[in-house]
Amino acid sequence: MLNGPASAGKTTTLMAEYSSRLGEAVLRSRTRAAERTARIEGEIANKVKSEFISNMSHELRTPLNTVIGFSKLLAEHEKRNLKQQDVAEYARLIQDAAGHLLSLINDILDISKLQSGRYYIDEQDVELEDILETCIKMHSKAATSAGITMTAKLADGLPVMRGDPSKLLQAISNFLSNAVKFTRDGGGIALEARPRDMDGTDILIRDTGVGMEEEELKIAMTPFGQVDGGRSRWREGAGLGLPIAKALIGLHGGSVDITSAKGIGTEVRIFLPSKRHVSRMQQRRDLSLPQS
Ligand SMILES: Nc1ncnc2c1ncn2[C@@H]1O[C@H](COP(=O)(O)OP(=O)(O)OP(=O)(O)O)[C@@H](O)[C@H]1O
Ligand SMILES: [Mg+2]
Repeated sequence: MLNGPASAGKTTTLMAEYSSRLGEAVLRSRTRAAERTARIEGEIANKVKSEFISNMSHELRTPLNTVIGFSKLLAEHEKRNLKQQDVAEYARLIQDAAGHLLSLINDILDISKLQSGRYYIDEQDVELEDILETCIKMHSKAATSAGITMTAKLADGLPVMRGDPSKLLQAISNFLSNAVKFTRDGGGIALEARPRDMDGTDILIRDTGVGMEEEELKIAMTPFGQVDGGRSRWREGAGLGLPIAKALIGLHGGSVDITSAKGIGTEVRIFLPSKRHVSRMQQRRDLSLPQS
């Protein structure tokens, strides 16, 4: 047992030594943990980057190959003795592929303009009912051929709002196209719209599709972010539809809330105010590209 001032001094020295060793050990362990976190983050970033590159090159190459392949066949139509209906079919395939490429390029330009805050909307009086009806018409054929039931309930007297009809159509159509794309055969999609007093309109798009976990939903909202669906139909697209749609609704002073449950479905709640409040800065903060 240690007693007296001499032993008290020794105890203090020992304690100082222990605490310094403990401090060093904690520091070493923290450095190791930080190194491990950085390594894992680096691996994830590389995976995201290579998935992004492979997905984008697939998205660009597929339609380009269609254009090159079928235009070559058309150029050789005499030598190949093509029938008139084949010529028309090949021309239609080229037109579809070129249209797909154009919309991909437009989406990339849109996201870049939205991120830099240089996106302007052409404001006028908008009848949301017309836009919603057009949207339903645009997607009901794809829903029916995928074996999905689509129902729509549009309340009477939806307030007229100020906004850009083509941008509102683009935004709502992006949500609806996802509902169709990520719902299995036999599933359902319900679209509802009702006025919220005279403040604006609530639009709900519910699907009984594959759904997403909370973390997956965060990825989905990021530009170029896609959740691995494991099926080729679900891998189509560039991962720009959701962030563009959310930003466009935001530019109209509206809001988007999405809840989703894996294997159960997804619900998108959109609010569009009758009077528009532009908040471009908010959009800029919301849109962050994946780190390279
Ligand atoms: N309704 C939904 N149900 C399940 N998953 C969804 C739904 N909507 C979006 N997702 C997931 O979020 C991802 C991102 O959606 P987003 O619309 O941004 O891109 P995309 O549909 O893959 O491509 P595109 O650029 O053609 O829209 C999708 O790839 C999908 O994994
Ligand atoms: Mg989409």
